[in-house]
Amino acid sequence: LAKIEVKLNDIPEGKNVTFKWRGKPLFIRHRTAEEIDTESKVDMSTLRDPQLDSDRAQRPEWLVLLGVCTHLGCVPIANSGEFGGYYCPCHGSHYDASGRIRKGPAPLNLEIPIHTFVDENTLVVG
Ligand code: FES
Repeated sequence: LAKIEVKLNDIPEGKNVTFKWRGKPLFIRHRTAEEIDTESKVDMSTLRDPQLDSDRAQRPEWLVLLGVCTHLGCVPIANSGEFGGYYCPCHGSHYDASGRIRKGPAPLNLEIPIHTFVDENTLVVG
């Protein structure tokens, strides 16, 4: 399927749910107020692949990512690692709760696929 529709009501706050989309893992993360606050305050000069959190999350409480490490393509583990986002166990890359690379060998932030919020409770990816 080229597109996937996700019902956001099914994903509780603080949880990252993994879907399969175009043969790849797709992460939908319902971020907490604390995560949103933390990520919005990160100093861009400390980032390897500088991107504002507000440019990565159309709606701050929802983060939509491809679950593919930008190093060599393993699937990172949610709510793990030193920056509260994702940890890739293959070679130790740490991503924050905006999916931005913070430590380890991965060169780039986790990719954000094209997505649209159709209504309050419906997200379409693709
Ligand atoms: Fe993720 Fe190497 S594939 S750190």
